[in-house]
Formats: sequence, C-alpha cells, structure tokens
Amino acid sequence: MRQFLSLEGKKAIITGAAKGIGKSIAIVFAQLGAESTLVDVDQAGLEETVGEIRNQGQKAYPVVADITDIKSIEKLVEESIDKMGRIDILVNNAGIALTNPAEKVTEEQWDKTMAVNLKAVFFLSQYVGRHMIQRRYGKIVNIASQTGIVAAEEHAAYAASKAGVVGLTKVLALEWGKYNINVNAVAPTVIMTPMGKKVWSGEKGEKFLQKIPLGRFGEPEDVAHLVAFLSSDLANMMTGATVMIDGGYTAQ
Ligand SMILES: NC(=O)c1ccc[n+]([C@@H]2O[C@H](COP(=O)([O-])OP(=O)(O)OC[C@H]3O[C@@H](n4cnc5c(N)ncnc54)[C@H](O)[C@@H]3O)[C@@H](O)[C@H]2O)c1
Repeated sequence: MRQFLSLEGKKAIITGAAKGIGKSIAIVFAQLGAESTLVDVDQAGLEETVGEIRNQGQKAYPVVADITDIKSIEKLVEESIDKMGRIDILVNNAGIALTNPAEKVTEEQWDKTMAVNLKAVFFLSQYVGRHMIQRRYGKIVNIASQTGIVAAEEHAAYAASKAGVVGLTKVLALEWGKYNINVNAVAPTVIMTPMGKKVWSGEKGEKFLQKIPLGRFGEPEDVAHLVAFLSSDLANMMTGATVMIDGGYTAQ
C-alpha cells in the first residue's frame, strides 16, 4: 500500500512560530492537516501566522509566552491540552543566535543562549513528554543546527547550545523509546530568515555559500518539509537521529 505524508488529525505544539522556520513549519503542518498551538514572544508575528492558517480554513491557537520561564512552559502545555485535547507532536524550534568572537562573549550572552536554545528545549520536552508517556505516543523534533555539528566562527555559545540539543535528542530517544516516543533533530545550514539575515548577510554569507554543494542557502520550507516527515508516522522507525539539511555542506 502506498502511504503519503500526512499529519491529518495530529495535534502539535510549535515554538518560535511568529517568523522564519517556525512560521513555515506551522503553515506546512496546517496544510498537512494538523491542528497546532503556536508559541512565541512576538505577539504581532504570531497573529500573522495564525491569520494565514485560519484563512486556509485550518485551526491554530496562538500562545504568547517566553519559553525560558518554566511556569510559562507548564501553563502553555496545560492550555494546549485543554484546547486540543492532547499533544501528539512537539517541535522545539524557537532559538536565538547571539554571535561574538569567543574572547568577547559575555556571561549574559552565554546564559541567554543556553536558556532559549537548550534549557527551554529540555523542559518543554519534559512537560510534554510526561503527557506523551501516559498516552504511549509522541513525536518530538528539535531544531539543532549545522553549527552544532561543524564549527562556524563567532558562534561559541550557539554551537555549544546546538551540540547540546544533539546530545539531548539522543538521551530522550533512549529513555522514551519504550513509550513509543520518537525524538529526532534536524540540523539546517544557513536559512535566510530574520535570524539568517542578521548573521549571514554580505561577504560573510557569500563565502559560506561557496561551501554549499547545492549552491544555495536553505529555504524555511526545506526545513519544514523534513520536520513534517519526522513528525509523521512515516518516520516511526527513526529516533535519536540528527538529520542534516545542509545542501551537502558537511559531506566534504
Ligand atoms: N536561520 C538559520 O540560518 C538557522 C540555521 C540553523 C538552525 N536554525 C535554528 O532554527 C530555529 C529557527 O530559527 P529562525 O532562523 O527561524 O529564527 P528567527 O529569529 O527568524 O525566528 C525565531 C523565533 O523564535 C522566537 N523566540 C525567540 N526566543 C523565544 C523565547 N524565549 N520564547 C518564545 N519564542 C522565542 C522569536 O520571537 C522568533 O519568532 C532556531 O532554533 C535556530 O537556531 C536557524
């Protein structure tokens, strides 16, 4: 029997859905039939994403929350279960990139990076994971980065946080496999989102581009399609993996 990619009837939480990759994941999920709770600190952006999804006749619920605050995590998970009835999929997408030469990184930059990119990923996974364990079903997809696998200059804190996400993905996969919860990560190369433009515009980006065999930066949709696959039941035998989506950058 042929099976096609579908998220029909699935209930998801997607963080960082106001713009960039998270927005694209939210739209692709809606197109594939999922109902989602969309989380971000950026209320205006979030409303735009939700508006686009509702205009297509799909369901999405905005939650304005800072995911570095554990009380907010607890509240948003409860709200999501109240609204949607259950959570099948968690996409840990929200992230920040505070670049600086290693010798200049401040304690504040380090702590903020770890809080958003790593601590929030763990505690959101823990709260949603407890619910998924009860139901013996769940898909968690973490957005890591190529920079968590190979180095990029001025990315000390960011690279450490994303390498942390790769390690965390493996431990959660190991511990929660017995509960039928799949935990995977994706590691994108440069994607020209608001974050990508801030970090990689100009000469720096042009130099980087020369190392991508496919000859282009990624599009948010490239990442969203992979995340959708990993969130679907077509990926039931995948767990603990970090899948590169880098146009071949790390093949060399
Ligand atoms: N753009 C790239 O080149 C690239 C490459 C590899 C990995 N990534 C990763 O992909 C993910 C999405 O990146 P993007 O390029 O779309 O970034 P972006 O800055 O364009 O969007 C990130 C979103 O996350 C939200 N966010 C940030 N901190 C938050 C918090 N504490 N609570 C709730 N929401 C918060 C922001 O408001 C924003 O809407 C990130 O994890 C990023 O590290 C991006």
